[in-house]
Order: sequence, then structure tokens, then C-alpha cells
Amino acid sequence: MRLSVIGTGYLGAVHAACMAHIGHEVVAYDTDASKIAALSAGTSPFYEPGFDELLATVLATGRLRFTQSAQEAVSGATVHFVCVGTPQLAGSDAANIEYVDSAFRAVVANADCDGLIVGKSTVPVGTAQRLSAEVAKTSSGLEVAWNPEFLREGKAIEDTLQPDRLVFGVTSEYAEKTLQEVYGALLDGGTPYLTADLPTSELVKVAANAFLATKISFINAMAEVCEIVDADVTVLSRALGYDDRIGKRFLNAGLGFGGGCLPKDIRAFSARAGELGASDALRFLHEVDKINLRRREKAVSVARAIVGGEFLGKSIAVLGAAFKPNSDDVRDSPALNVAAAMHLKGADVRVHDPKAIDNAKARFPTLGYFDSAEDACRKADLIVLATEWDEYTNIDPEAFRSLVKEPRLLDTRNVIDRETWSRAGWQVYSLGRGGLHV
Ligand code: UGA
Repeated sequence: MRLSVIGTGYLGAVHAACMAHIGHEVVAYDTDASKIAALSAGTSPFYEPGFDELLATVLATGRLRFTQSAQEAVSGATVHFVCVGTPQLAGSDAANIEYVDSAFRAVVANADCDGLIVGKSTVPVGTAQRLSAEVAKTSSGLEVAWNPEFLREGKAIEDTLQPDRLVFGVTSEYAEKTLQEVYGALLDGGTPYLTADLPTSELVKVAANAFLATKISFINAMAEVCEIVDADVTVLSRALGYDDRIGKRFLNAGLGFGGGCLPKDIRAFSARAGELGASDALRFLHEVDKINLRRREKAVSVARAIVGGEFLGKSIAVLGAAFKPNSDDVRDSPALNVAAAMHLKGADVRVHDPKAIDNAKARFPTLGYFDSAEDACRKADLIVLATEWDEYTNIDPEAFRSLVKEPRLLDTRNVIDRETWSRAGWQVYSLGRGGLHV
């Protein structure tokens, strides 16, 4: 099939490459010249394991092209995937859906045959029905469907080619059949799919992210209690996780969730509920958000106590800037937030990250950045492990002991083997595991 993909950010670029990989002809469009140039040259504008290799393979087949011309992407295609971002609106909790609206307008203006416009962006419930009505008014041959995306950064290719499930928000048999054809290779491979009406399909996505955020904040709330009574949240979490009804995934207590999705999605969901007169139903998400942000404050206050109650004149190494490992994304990164807060309070903050330094520098140019964890940790009064990259969990505590001024480590992600580090002479502090009355 001939597909167009509108928007080549994380979601769009990966979706385009994966659709070409399963055999479709894909032309992906973006207004950003530098993204199009990089992708056309086979270079990913973001870090995603395996993506450069996938790009090279599919570009070589000739089935994938990137363009800055909406017309070139849209004309001749029968299915158009809208994959643009829906960031948080400045000064509001709501999502900004102007890019979705203009993507739909671009498709309608340039389509030269009948087809299906498939929204993949995360949108406030009700958007698809509105767009569907608008498209029906202007174009008789185009129909709207919604097909939410559940990919995780760092696992984007696997999540696209072997998703847990596909959700088809459709209003006709034609739309359902078309999506079955697009995803035929995945469905043949056993991926389950559900059809839904448009609002349900939009809700699946935000409900999933709200649930995941709630699960993380639940265990972080338990961490707060553990800190008071000197209990160990990592043991608590493991014990809870053995119960199949609870499950162990997304139950890692630490610095909480960040990134371009979970934080803004729970806020946008609450804002939308407010507009719909259902504020009470989602009021708990405000608490989920607050618990999450409190973890960052706790990390800063514990760090300050560890270095003697005063950041001024203290050198703090922060290991990690990305919002999670295997990503160079620093949007709403808990690690960078903590680094910036300590810097504001007077600490000399020295940041390292294996992949996210350039993005971090662009956001917080006044922090110190280092090319190696060793350099960041040299003469440090405290190391704060803030993103759980394997590189950091594999650090040899003996070797790092000779680098630092004081052998003190705050593990905000609960990934360090505390015994090994303690045996090597370190004072180890961990969020949610007691012993924080410093
Ligand atoms: C999230 C969802 O997991 C995807 O299903 C969804 O498609 C995506 O948002 C989206 O809306 O586009 P992502 O933002 O890539 O994916 O990252 P996650 O793996 O969900 O992690 C989010 C944050 O939660 C990270 O900061 C991570 O460190 C934190 N986290 C995760 C915890 O603090 N504890 C955990 O147990 C798990």
C-alpha cells in the first residue's frame, strides 16, 4: 500500500520506517528541514537503539522517502498517518492540538484519491469525532480513523513491530478493513487487535498512560512512607509484584516519571475531564502528579543534607540527564530537574549522560557537562545517580572512590548494589530505603 506519514518526530519517523519495513511504500512529511535532511541521509535526529540500522535497511529498499512537501507525501497515498506532537499548552494543563489540526488540513488539501486519515497522536477525547465531521464537510472521499500508539522510547521499534495490541478506532467497515490490510503482517504474526468507536480509541491511550503514571506514583508514595519508618521500598515492590493481579512492571520506586508523554498526558486528561464536567473522576491524577514531583524535591533535600545542609561550595556529580535510560530525550527529565535545582541553590553541578548531553545543554546551558562519568565525578562531594543507564550500574566503586572528594552516593533509581558499594567504602543513600535521616 502507499502510505503517507505526517510528522517525523519520534513516533512518525519510527512508524514510517516500520511500515516500510513490513512492505509498504511510505513517504513521510515534516516541516522541519533539518529532520528531513537527516532522515533522508539515513541518520536519526534522536537516539533510539536500532533505528539507524533500520533506516539504512529500509531506505535501501527505496520504499521509504522523507520530504518537506506535504503534496509529495499525500498525493497518491490511500492511508495517511498523522503522527504530530501534542505538547502541553503554555500556561495551561491542556494539550496543544494545533499541529494535529494543521496536519489534517494538509492531508485534505493535498489528497488526490479516496482514503483514510488515521490519527496516531495522543489527543483529548472528542478530537477524532470533531475532525471526522470537519473532514466529511470538505472531502467526500476521505474518512477518519484513530489508531493510538503505545510505543516506548528506547523500545520504539520492538513496540511498533510487535505491539502488545492494536486498537482501531473506526466508524465503518472500510476503515477497519483498511487498517487490517495496513497491519496485515503484524496481525498474521499474532498481534491482537480491538476495534472501538472513536472516543474509546482516544481514551485507551490516555487511560493507559494515566494507569502507568498512577502505578509509579503509588510505589513512590509507599517510598515516602518507607523513608519515615526505615522500611525498604525495593523489597516491598518485589513482594507486591509477585501478586499477578498487581504485577511487577512499572513498580520501580525512584525519582518518578518524566519525558514528553506521561506528565503532559495526565495533565491534559485532567484538563479535558474538567471541560467535560468530569473533574471528580480524574482528581486523583493531580495527586499522582504531586507525588511524582515531590520525589524530585526529596532528592534535592536529601542531597543537601548529605553534603552538610548547604549546597554552596559543594561539587555534585549528576549521573544521567535523559528522562530514562536508552533515550536522549530530556523533556521534563527528573534527572535534569534535580541537577538544575541543586545548581540554583549554589552547588557546582557536573552532569554526565551517555547520549543526552547535547539536548541537556540546550535546555540548561549553565550546568557543567562532561564527556565521561569519571570526569563528572572528579573531586565530587556527592554523586547523584539520576538515570539508570547500564554504564552507571556497572561502575566499579573501588575505581571511582579514588576520583571523588567524598565517597558518597545518592542512588535515586534504586539500581546500585548497596553492599558492594558500602564494602568499597562508600556511604550509600537510596530513595525509599530508609537511612535518610541525614
Ligand atoms: C510512555 C508509555 O510507556 C508508552 O506506552 C506510551 O506510548 C508513551 O509514553 C507515549 O505516550 O508516547 P515513555 O514516555 O517512552 O512511554 O517512557 P516509559 O517507559 O513509560 O517511562 C516513563 C517514565 O517513568 C520514565 O521517566 C521512567 O524512568 C519512569 N518510570 C518507569 C519509573 O519511574 N518507574 C517505573 O517503574 C517505570
